[in-house]
Amino acid sequence: MPADEILISETEIQNRLPELAAEINEALPDGPIHVVIILKGAIIFGVDLARALMRNATLGFLAASSYGAGTKSKGRVQIDTEHLGEIEGRNVLLIDDILDTGHTFAKTIDILGDKRPASLRTCVLMDKPARRETEIQADHVGFTIENHFVVGYGLDCDEAYRTLPDIRIYAPE
Ligand code: IMP
Ligand code: MG
Repeated sequence: MPADEILISETEIQNRLPELAAEINEALPDGPIHVVIILKGAIIFGVDLARALMRNATLGFLAASSYGAGTKSKGRVQIDTEHLGEIEGRNVLLIDDILDTGHTFAKTIDILGDKRPASLRTCVLMDKPARRETEIQADHVGFTIENHFVVGYGLDCDEAYRTLPDIRIYAPE
């Protein structure tokens, strides 16, 4: 199968979650927070991290698509805010799967910022700095990786591999 090289094991991911949660809890103000998960890629990481926070949290979702089919970004980002929830005046944590060129995150942060949250912090499972085309960085990063196209733990290639428990390098045959 084109995705059998494990880059980040299930154990490494599961060990990193409470560390990230502790970092985020220290940085976020006390009280209720609103966790916004970017679909579909961050769905699995997002709910795992939201639970690891072990605090009073509501969930919202944004649906972003920039890739379409295949592994090459089209540079166009579409964002659906129908299930975002209330942002104004709230402490918001935005979660994405991977920071690649940064276009998705940049556009998402703009959309959330316009809705005047009390505070906004950002977290990504993985950062791929080699491919960045924007100034964007995440406040909290699970793992910094080399320039590989990866799948698993929510990330896909043409919708496949999302339910793998680990992160694997996708290498087309
Ligand atoms: P960006 O806008 O280029 O930063 O791309 C971000 C989005 O592209 C992520 O939220 C992912 O859904 C997708 N993406 C970027 N790199 C990868 C990858 O290596 N594997 C799977 N999806 C990726
Ligand atoms: Mg994707």
